[in-house]
Amino acid sequence: MSYKVEKLVINYKTLEEFKKFKEYGLQELSMLEDLEANIIENDIKSPFYGIYFGDKLVARMSLYRVEKKFDRYFQPPQDYLELWKLEVIPEYQNKGYGSALVNYAKTYGLPIKTNPRVKSQDFWIKMGFTPVQYDMERDLGTNPLVWTPGSPEEQTIEEPSA
Ligand code: COA
Repeated sequence: MSYKVEKLVINYKTLEEFKKFKEYGLQELSMLEDLEANIIENDIKSPFYGIYFGDKLVARMSLYRVEKKFDRYFQPPQDYLELWKLEVIPEYQNKGYGSALVNYAKTYGLPIKTNPRVKSQDFWIKMGFTPVQYDMERDLGTNPLVWTPGSPEEQTIEEPSA
């Protein structure tokens, strides 16, 4: 199934849609405060990507490109994507939305690192991610998983678009 993945702009409508997600938290609240205080303009770009069903946001994730000089996960160090806040609202789970977002992130052709939420580890393994060797100082209680382009299990990857 193919879903259209969109880069989300920050405005009151998007922030209202975000309230449906369990991981609504400080990041969203601070965007709302900045918008209300006119610190940020309406419709500015955000690190969020999402999929709409009609005009309803049903799945979202954040993606951020980390520079090589800050890389502590890949050898040799390289630019990579940090993926977080992947979430599909309950009625739309298990319909391919989550994997559509992850596949979209993969099309950048960069390695990806994520800290999965509890219980979603098996989903990530299915998506071709591997748990990293835990390093206490670096990982501090998180259990990151990584994916690198060209992993043998990734036969279906699309060509990078960027
Ligand atoms: N654990 C293990 N496998 C999972 C899974 C999970 N939590 N969620 C989905 N899968 C599997 C699907 O069965 C599917 O397998 P298939 O290709 O063999 O059919 C594959 O992963 C892709 O599923 P998809 O439909 O793209 O998943 P999704 O759109 O529901 O997105 C999550 C996956 C985890 C991002 C989404 O379900 C979510 O946001 N869940 C929030 C709650 C949560 O984390 N629940 C965990 C269980 S309590």
